[in-house]
Amino acid sequence: MFKYNYQKAVSREELQKIQSDVQKAYLTLITKQGAGNDFLGWLKWPFEYDKEEYTRIKAAAKKIQSDSECLVVIGIGGSYLGAKAVLSALSSYFDKGNKKVEIIFAGCNLSANYQYELLEYLRNKEFSINVISKSGTTTEPAIAFNFLKNLLIEKYGEAEANQRIYATTDKARGALKGEANQKGYQTFVIPDDIGGRYSVFTAVGLLPIAAAGYDIDELMQGARDSSLAAYSKPYLDNPALLYAATRKVLLDKQKNVEILVTYEPKLSFISEWWKQLFGESEGKDQKGIFPASLVYSTDLHSMGQFVQEGARIMSETVLKVSSSEYDLMLKATKENADGLNYLAGKTLTYVCEQATEGTILAHLDGGVPNAEIEISKIDEYHLGYLLYFFMFSCGVYCYLLGVNPFNQPGVESYKKNMFALLGKPGYEELQKELLARKGN
Ligand code: PA5
Repeated sequence: MFKYNYQKAVSREELQKIQSDVQKAYLTLITKQGAGNDFLGWLKWPFEYDKEEYTRIKAAAKKIQSDSECLVVIGIGGSYLGAKAVLSALSSYFDKGNKKVEIIFAGCNLSANYQYELLEYLRNKEFSINVISKSGTTTEPAIAFNFLKNLLIEKYGEAEANQRIYATTDKARGALKGEANQKGYQTFVIPDDIGGRYSVFTAVGLLPIAAAGYDIDELMQGARDSSLAAYSKPYLDNPALLYAATRKVLLDKQKNVEILVTYEPKLSFISEWWKQLFGESEGKDQKGIFPASLVYSTDLHSMGQFVQEGARIMSETVLKVSSSEYDLMLKATKENADGLNYLAGKTLTYVCEQATEGTILAHLDGGVPNAEIEISKIDEYHLGYLLYFFMFSCGVYCYLLGVNPFNQPGVESYKKNMFALLGKPGYEELQKELLARKGN
């Protein structure tokens, strides 16, 4: 089950008013007429994925399970957030000792502490590497790969190390592809027409998820069903179109921040993935809603005050899960020393539901429009459904806003400066200019 409920955020009339604009944006997306239309391979990918490669992904996952305690997944942005989101959502909070393979992410920061501690942690572990980079040239993963590959070679020798490296990258271009060809790494392709943040259903997401032991068939089935719904349902019954439309109505009312809220900490990386998807897709040409995320009730004790009474710039979308895998019942005690006897016989899920309802009503009173996305449970199928829903909706919404959902020109600015400051050949002029600005 998958539901989107806009009623506490915008009115049906407001949505009807922009129906033709939404319809136009939807057609622009599915007929591939808009800006960035050479990056729409993800639209039909859940149906038209490379079946031969899919079989290889499953085989590689099995091999990794048979010879590795850990798989280090190296990537940044769209090259790691999808797998991280799905794995965080599906994993137990505490290690039950039943993990097929421990998935560890690297190359998504430049922390020397992280890199050092990871190398130390892996020293006595059997491990493999899945290095993921579409361009094959991104600095953060390239540096992490450099360190980790050296450790792998130190442990296993070059020939075996090369068998333990899986490269997910462009089919022909980039330094990583060149190295993979030269060393004989097994490679998986990020298709030309699928950008990083839309790539979770390619090998980018599938190999780490399958290696961890989760069911990628179900994930893909969820994406297919979500795609069918997005393509075929009429406007007022179509969650992907309604979510896009609701965001546009809210933005037009100066709700410039959208907070994706979850009461399930396991879903916090779904929010991180969502922030990248929307932030990088819509945040350009001085436009867009700033995507933020909070985990309740934890953050009600830190950010709740602002949401309730601070600047009235935000809306909330609550990501609800209607069933919990486990539940616990509160019991009465003789002394009632903690004053909780009034909850005797109630479950923790019930308490959480009342917290959710109470918070929504309070925030509505505080002028925060509130929408809800509901999935019946956290499993591969519903996560596949949810992620595809967000991607489709993001495409429609960005066309509604008039921006290209598939480029990220702004990301280059920091890279240029970093290269110049690091003294990368070709950046000499910029280096001089930046050093002068720094006062050197
Ligand atoms: O969504 C995107 O395109 C980006 O977030 C990229 O995934 C990210 O910058 C990493 O790029 P690459 O996969 O080329 O290393």
